Amino acid sequence: MSCRVVVLLSGRGSNLRAIAEAGLPVEIVAVISNRPLAAGLAWAREHGLPAVALDSAEFADREAFDAKLAEEIERHQPDLVVLAGYMRILSPAFIGRFEGRLLNIHPSLLPAFPGLKTHERALAEGVKIHGCTVHFVTARLDHGPIVIQAAVPVRADDTPDTLAARVLRQEHRIYPQAVRWFAEGRLVNKCGQVNLKDDSASQSVFPTEN
Ligand code: GAR
Repeated sequence: MSCRVVVLLSGRGSNLRAIAEAGLPVEIVAVISNRPLAAGLAWAREHGLPAVALDSAEFADREAFDAKLAEEIERHQPDLVVLAGYMRILSPAFIGRFEGRLLNIHPSLLPAFPGLKTHERALAEGVKIHGCTVHFVTARLDHGPIVIQAAVPVRADDTPDTLAARVLRQEHRIYPQAVRWFAEGRLVNKCGQVNLKDDSASQSVFPTEN
């Protein structure tokens, strides 16, 4: 039986697309967005994926919204919940409910640059290597156990947009890989460290194309 995946997103949905088009042994059983007009939700609908809008503006507080979100997710009985550009902080109760089967992608080499505006901040710090990280979500924002990272060079003439585009190409590579490993039952998450059951594959990506 294939791994049942629920995807949460807030925007464009390019990571959803990358995952949906990678030929993974998974079934995307729902795409849920806190923003009814998210382009990623429209893409899901157009491609026959069950798409659900839950407008956070209609809920009294984070706990109420997250309780409804959790209920909606559970209806689809997922093995894995994938945050793909989901731009809302999740409550501890929500994270506790899905911990161990909740993945996120973040546009930096964590633990550097948690939070927002990662590309601007990387340029402001003058770092020479930047990248992206897929990690399990824990209560500490952008700090959960790391599954895979990809590095990209930072160029002298980069703008936040050119750097973001270079990182995004790698996001589209590592997120499907991480989901595949999860679906194949190859991720061993022990004491805050994630390793692969057989270590023939690498959890660090240094792309030659940049
Ligand atoms: C991606 O760059 C992802 O890493 C980032 O939002 C973008 C979503 O793009 N996520 C975060 O910043 C989470 N803190 P997409 O909608 O095209 O997949």
